[in-house]
Amino acid sequence: MQTQIHFENPKAIDYTIYIDELAPHHFARKVAIVTNPKVAGLHLGTLLEKITADERYIITVPDGEAYKNQQTLDLILENLFNHRFDRGSLLIAFGGGVIGDMTGFAASIFQRGIDFIQVPTTLLSQVDASVGGKTGINNSYGKNLIGAFYQPKAVYIETDFLKTLPAREFGAGVAEIVKMAVTFDADFFAYLEKADLHEKEALAKTIRKSVETKARVVGEDEKEKGIRAVLNYGHTFGHVIENLTGYRRFLHGEAVAIGMVMANALAMRLGLLEKDEATRIEALLQKYNLPTRFTVTDPDAFYEGFFLDKKTQNASVKFILPKGIGDFEIVKDLDRELVIDVLKEFSL
Ligand SMILES: NC(=O)c1ccc[n+]([C@@H]2O[C@H](COP(=O)([O-])OP(=O)(O)OC[C@H]3O[C@@H](n4cnc5c(N)ncnc54)[C@H](O)[C@@H]3O)[C@@H](O)[C@H]2O)c1
Repeated sequence: MQTQIHFENPKAIDYTIYIDELAPHHFARKVAIVTNPKVAGLHLGTLLEKITADERYIITVPDGEAYKNQQTLDLILENLFNHRFDRGSLLIAFGGGVIGDMTGFAASIFQRGIDFIQVPTTLLSQVDASVGGKTGINNSYGKNLIGAFYQPKAVYIETDFLKTLPAREFGAGVAEIVKMAVTFDADFFAYLEKADLHEKEALAKTIRKSVETKARVVGEDEKEKGIRAVLNYGHTFGHVIENLTGYRRFLHGEAVAIGMVMANALAMRLGLLEKDEATRIEALLQKYNLPTRFTVTDPDAFYEGFFLDKKTQNASVKFILPKGIGDFEIVKDLDRELVIDVLKEFSL
């Protein structure tokens, strides 16, 4: 299966997202595969059977969000300099979203930009992070605050890699899938309610559908000036939850799941969503054991948390809310008291 990402911006270069089509390929150039010890231990052998190159290097960096930083970026870049990589060389990101974001960013700045390919190995990175060209690293001020929009040359999604993914990581990916269905596609949502994503065919179909949605949205709005922001449904609340819990208690997708439930409560308050629709969304998240509740002990402090997000522009919080199932509304300049009141629903 293949999906094309076509950019409306004529300066951006279209590329293909291949699903379960990774065929043997020889690159007549220097190639570095950037990965971590966990992914390498599980799947590098499979990748190396497929990908050969004139010169092929493996750059292994430590695993985890805590290492998505300047130091690891430097490690990647130093490897490239040591091996005399040049403008014609290629990077391959082989891992989850952390590896993908960091490798993409390294590719964007090495000698002002070299080619890179995404081979995502988590569900979250297959349906979301690997497509769309957001790359970057974290620093002490927050997540993804240093980075670039830099598109890969291609994305190769292999669903077999997901067989080794821990259940919680799988669920985190489902949250991002639900996000896309709720905001853009009622039929897809209804399909997800019936499907079992642990079945290979249903999973491949779901990944394709999610990737198509993401590709369409990003193709229309590469730099998030408009509709791409809809992909942040659940994230405005989710980021505050991650922040309040020190990025330790929940995986990103888990915080997004709770964030969607909170956004739904706000949408209901504004008459955008019916109670039974909110119940259906929560039930779908729970089907994959995602958390859907978080106790807001201090609604005022939670509210202040919205302003730490880089997406909160000019001190006005922008909420992405579902309008029924399959559509969305972007709501700005809401009364502080109204939002606090909704947060209080979660304080028990
Ligand atoms: N660029 C974007 O548009 C975008 C979108 C969403 C999220 N992100 C970023 O993605 C990151 C989260 O990505 P993630 O959820 O993939 O986390 P991750 O990259 O940390 O991977 C999660 C864990 O799974 C392991 N793993 C990877 N593949 C595996 C496999 N096949 N089997 C077993 N274990 C495997 C990883 O080593 C890691 O321990 C965050 O940094 C987030 O900011 C980026």
